[in-house]
Amino acid sequence: MLNIGKDLKNQEFVYLDDSRSRAVLVCGKRGSGKSYTLGVIVEELLDAGDTLVVIVDPMGIYYPMAQPNQAQERLLWDSGLTPKGVPTLLLVPGDPELLYGGREVVQVIESKGVRFRQFKINPADLSPDAWCELFDLSISDVMGIALFRAVQHLKRRRKEHFFIPDIIEAIEMDELANDRTRQALLNRLEMAQDWGIFSTRYQELWEVFDHQAVNIIDLSTLDPGPKGRRNLIVDVLARDMFKRRTIARRKEGLGLIGELPRVWVLIDEAHQFVPSGKTTLAKEALIRWAKEGRQPGLSLVVASQQPSAIDSEIISQCDIIVAQKLTNRADIQAVNALSQDYMGGELKTYIRKLNRRGEAVLVDDEQEKVMMLQVRPRKSYHGGGEA
Ligand SMILES: Nc1ncnc2c1ncn2[C@@H]1O[C@H](COP(=O)(O)OP(=O)(O)O)[C@@H](O)[C@H]1O
Ligand SMILES: [Mg+2]
Repeated sequence: MLNIGKDLKNQEFVYLDDSRSRAVLVCGKRGSGKSYTLGVIVEELLDAGDTLVVIVDPMGIYYPMAQPNQAQERLLWDSGLTPKGVPTLLLVPGDPELLYGGREVVQVIESKGVRFRQFKINPADLSPDAWCELFDLSISDVMGIALFRAVQHLKRRRKEHFFIPDIIEAIEMDELANDRTRQALLNRLEMAQDWGIFSTRYQELWEVFDHQAVNIIDLSTLDPGPKGRRNLIVDVLARDMFKRRTIARRKEGLGLIGELPRVWVLIDEAHQFVPSGKTTLAKEALIRWAKEGRQPGLSLVVASQQPSAIDSEIISQCDIIVAQKLTNRADIQAVNALSQDYMGGELKTYIRKLNRRGEAVLVDDEQEKVMMLQVRPRKSYHGGGEA
């Protein structure tokens, strides 16, 4: 059970039942406390244990969780809590010193108890389609056809074990493509090599994670576009985890040991990955996760200041909604559309009553209940406040 705060009516603790997989929507306008709430959920999941906890962090704001929340010590005291940092692994897509602006910066962050690890994806973990989409190539034009063919060929022959130089070689040897096509593809592949996000030797993705820590994937240094590298990483991550957990679940069902514990992935600024009315590299995998993740033990938390901008296929799968202060009419409407008979009134009437920071309307569709709560203060430091 995850203790996320207190009922505003009777001051009783409010718990989220995490004994089964959940899909959670956290929404609210800017500064209403969404990222803070995500941190509360992370603290609780780590306390519960036996869970792989991963935050997808497009803003690069979560690593200060390694530090205790001394800044709100009074508030914590009033709730009978004390400041305490959480074990933190910061996964960066490339060389931390290059991405963070030098060795000094990395050392200072490390001195605050944060461990760094590079996060790289295997070229073979992308489908031939994804390779084409990454370069914005249609699989019906000459370049797309040649790239698709090269990757598919390598997949058949080498399974997981091929890297960008192998794709380059396959394209160079492709007699069906003309010189210009080949050259244009080689340029792109060399560029991709320089991004530093592709591994040069095979590595199981899930092996980089620390099951005792919060695993923060810092995507803030990458381009945010729908076909950009942020989306690419989330796509590969989601599909890999889904596959691993499905295999582990099958093993567990047969009385064997599954190698991956249950997984919670929390995605901040989720409209970047599952926007309504737009395709992105990660969208299909995340919708599948939300729809079918229950059985293999996959939970999802999506946070956004713009619930109206999140794909309805994701929102409709959410069985927990944490709505913090909202003022935009379209966003209130989007949440209000999730009103159910058991609520004894429309959701927007609850949302209008929200006043203070950290107050939220909680809807738990499994228990068929709705309530107003105060999200509890964070034990770990929150880095997301105004600069
Ligand atoms: N439940 C809470 N208790 C105490 N302070 C909070 C709470 N939620 C948010 N805050 C304060 O509000 C600020 C903004 O919260 P944040 O989560 O960064 O907003 P958002 O992600 O919605 O833009 C935080 O820096 C924190 O100081
Ligand atoms: Mg935020």
